[in-house]
Amino acid sequence: MEIKTLIDEIKIQDRIKEIAKTITKDFNNEEIILICILKGSLFFTADLAKRIPSNVILDFMKVSSYEGTQSTGKINLKLDLSTDITNKNVLIVEDIIDTGRTLTYLKEYLLNKNPKKLKICTLLDKKERREFDLEPDYTCFEIPDKFVVGYGLDYDELYRNLPYIGYIE
Ligand code: IMP
Ligand code: MG
Repeated sequence: MEIKTLIDEIKIQDRIKEIAKTITKDFNNEEIILICILKGSLFFTADLAKRIPSNVILDFMKVSSYEGTQSTGKINLKLDLSTDITNKNVLIVEDIIDTGRTLTYLKEYLLNKNPKKLKICTLLDKKERREFDLEPDYTCFEIPDKFVVGYGLDYDELYRNLPYIGYIE
């Protein structure tokens, strides 16, 4: 399969540094619980966390809604939080927003736990594909409607380990 580069490593890292500064400031240098949405935002969460100088707590959730390149339309919660987020600053860290279904579900689920503040940070946003009224607070890159892989994103579990973001033609 041929994979073309969409966003290279340097651009990704530069943008993460920038967005980490904004996040740190918006949360007033207070402690933040980063919720990494597995598996796609593994590398993004790791790199972002390293650029936030305030106290960071990491937690993980896993949901599934996608098989191959097609959204199945259902959300399954496969791994839940291990931290109590009541009255805490929380940042959901997601790899990509497509229809917005996953984050609409997650946002509601987490808001029910009464965090002090809940914000959403996404590496990629495919805005034109949106079906749900969902706006992230932080977006690293808006991308066109292409199926992307790399830097955590997969095509049937492959290509997550590419250090850049590419697309399949
Ligand atoms: P949504 O619920 O439709 O917004 O879909 C979000 C999820 O679909 C992401 O967390 C990804 O796991 C997956 N996804 C959407 N677009 C892509 C893509 O281009 N490449 C890889 N995964 C994708
Ligand atoms: Mg995925």
